[in-house]
Amino acid sequence: MAVDLTVHVGAVRLRNPILAASGTFGYGVEFAHLVDLNRLGGIVVKGLSREPMEGAPAPRLCETPSGMLNAVGLQNIGVRAFVAEKLPVLRKYDTAIIANVFGYSVEDYVEVIRVLEDAEGLAAYELNISCPNVKKGGMQFGGDSGLVGEVVGAARKAAAKRPLWVKLSPMVADIGLIARTAQSAGADALTVANTYPAMAVDPWTGKSCLGNQTGGLSGPSIKPITLRLVWETFKTIKTPILGVGGIETVEDVLQYVAAGATAVQVGTASFTDPTVSQRLVKGLERALFIAKAFTVNEIRGRIFADFG
Ligand SMILES: Cc1cc2nc3c(=O)[nH]c(=O)nc-3n(C[C@H](O)[C@H](O)[C@H](O)COP(=O)(O)O)c2cc1C
Repeated sequence: MAVDLTVHVGAVRLRNPILAASGTFGYGVEFAHLVDLNRLGGIVVKGLSREPMEGAPAPRLCETPSGMLNAVGLQNIGVRAFVAEKLPVLRKYDTAIIANVFGYSVEDYVEVIRVLEDAEGLAAYELNISCPNVKKGGMQFGGDSGLVGEVVGAARKAAAKRPLWVKLSPMVADIGLIARTAQSAGADALTVANTYPAMAVDPWTGKSCLGNQTGGLSGPSIKPITLRLVWETFKTIKTPILGVGGIETVEDVLQYVAAGATAVQVGTASFTDPTVSQRLVKGLERALFIAKAFTVNEIRGRIFADFG
């Protein structure tokens, strides 16, 4: 089939627009026996922090209607162990590896990037800004345009070698303002968006279903909400967008691309079927062929074409 699935997220060339989302695909290597990693557009690895983190108390996951709640607490092996143990295996695969970075202060983010700058085999950084800033009384970085400007600006300076993607929090009053701020501070792409704070309670015990009490909602239930955020972001800025929220089918991918996404990430769907991303690549190829669109670019922003 003469369909070209290649997309460019700024300077990063991806074989296709389907990536595995951070926190839902481990460090990639754990899935190598199930999925042909070389078929994916890219893998965004689990969030990396300055020091290893044990994460939140169990239970950490809970099913909800059309979705899932998680409170993993950003458990990870720490950036140094990632570079020493995971990256040497990962870089053997012919797919884009994106390091998801988080911290609880601006200095934390900068330090994680500083360690990654010395390593080979990464295509870009993705900054998770849905984290509390302990120096600002726990206020989330991603919810305040001043803090967004500060953390993205500092990360931009630290990330001399590679493109910087910024993953926005969906819990903002004006996504356009946050997107413009991240773009001005040096973001090369925006990932829209993270999970939504939520809660589930066992009606018979009155206890939360999560050890952490509250968690992040993901899966099909969030898709229409995040889809609007992608569209609002696309209308506001020129920076490429990676859409993420509730993607399970090829139709979901087409909707995100029509709303303005250059590429998409698949998260919760990998929990029920770890091969879903690989299947979506094949399905997208067929879908474009049937639609007589021979590149992904041809359908991007089509919603706008309709409204003139
Ligand atoms: C169990 C779990 C862990 C996650 N960990 C991270 C993480 O470490 N960093 C991050 O930026 N996003 C993390 N996310 C958010 C996902 O990458 C994604 O943005 C979100 O789940 C929405 O997409 P989905 O509906 O396809 O799952 C996590 C999500 C889940 C379900």
